[in-house]
Amino acid sequence: MLRKIAKWTGIVLGSILLLALVGYFLISRNISQRIEKTYTFADESLNAPNDSNAIRRGQHLVVIKGCTDCHGNNLSGKIMMDDASLGRLSAANLTKGKGGLPADYSTTDWVRALRHGVDRVGHPLLFMPSHETTLLSQQDMAAIIAYCQQIPPVDHELPAEKIGPIVNVMTYLDKMPLFSVEKIDHDRPMVAKADSTEGIALGKYLAVSCSGCHRPDFKGGDPVAPGFPPVPNLTSTGNVGKWTQEQFMATLRTGKTPSGHQINNENMPWKMTAQYEQKELASLYQYFRSLH
Ligand code: HEC
Ligand code: HEC
Repeated sequence: MLRKIAKWTGIVLGSILLLALVGYFLISRNISQRIEKTYTFADESLNAPNDSNAIRRGQHLVVIKGCTDCHGNNLSGKIMMDDASLGRLSAANLTKGKGGLPADYSTTDWVRALRHGVDRVGHPLLFMPSHETTLLSQQDMAAIIAYCQQIPPVDHELPAEKIGPIVNVMTYLDKMPLFSVEKIDHDRPMVAKADSTEGIALGKYLAVSCSGCHRPDFKGGDPVAPGFPPVPNLTSTGNVGKWTQEQFMATLRTGKTPSGHQINNENMPWKMTAQYEQKELASLYQYFRSLH
């Protein structure tokens, strides 16, 4: 009897292990197929003006949209993660130095990356938030491109990327935004110009940069990845509903909330929000307060 139980336990455990292995094999094959997929989009260009106003605006946008957080202060690229379970992913060197963008990387290539989430041959850009940059106005996208096209070249070669098991499984379960190309409405026309006066419309436009963590309805939720804190609700039903505009702005400029809690920049990029203009923070506050 005991032997029979042991035998059946062995068979059951063995089958579970086998199923897990087959499952993981299928998941990692699914992810590699999605990585290797080639997309084609009609070429599109933008008139990237390179006057000093556009370049100054581009420089501000590169900071407040978090490009420098991932691509580094001089945009020469950065390793974002490198460990056995997550794998290795790096944000590209966006300069024309060694290891950077090719010398003939054109405005059309820039638009393809920011609007559609693919590189110049049509392969998905991994972990690049193009589902957010696709919502930029033409004017802002052009300013970003104009700024990036004139930054000094920096030699910085980044190691090849490798997808680890956790990223494979989380991407498969749609818990990690590895493939922004799959989330974009590629036929959506771009708006020419965003509303630039202080108010709810400007706040809504800017809040796209917060939606990846605070969720599209800004009600927050579970941590974005293991080891991070839960993400708070930013609407009028959360803390922001109790804060004055001054308290909200002070929180985003110093990382310190009205109750005295110091936010870690690794969890919530307050060093990025600290660079927003007065008008931009006020608009975000007004927009979040309008949500219930
Ligand atoms: C969350 C981190 C993150 C942010 C924020 C981010 N990027 Fe990226 N970006 C990446 C990663 C990672 C890659 C590399 C993707 C790959 O190689 O598959 C990338 C690739 C790119 C490329 C593609 C280069 C090529 O090979 O064709 C461009 C262009 C780019 N980013 C521009 C920007 C700009 C401009 C911004 C700000 C508006 C920005 N990125 C914000 C992570 C980020
Ligand atoms: C990378 C993910 C991430 C992004 C992007 C992000 N946040 Fe956060 N945010 C968090 C997390 C996590 C916390 C909680 C931090 C803590 O508890 O220490 C937080 C906290 C906050 C708080 C404090 C809320 C409270 O109730 O204490 C405010 C306000 C806030 N974020 C606003 C913003 C705004 C505005 C943006 C966009 C411009 C933004 N966040 C972008 C992750 C993010």
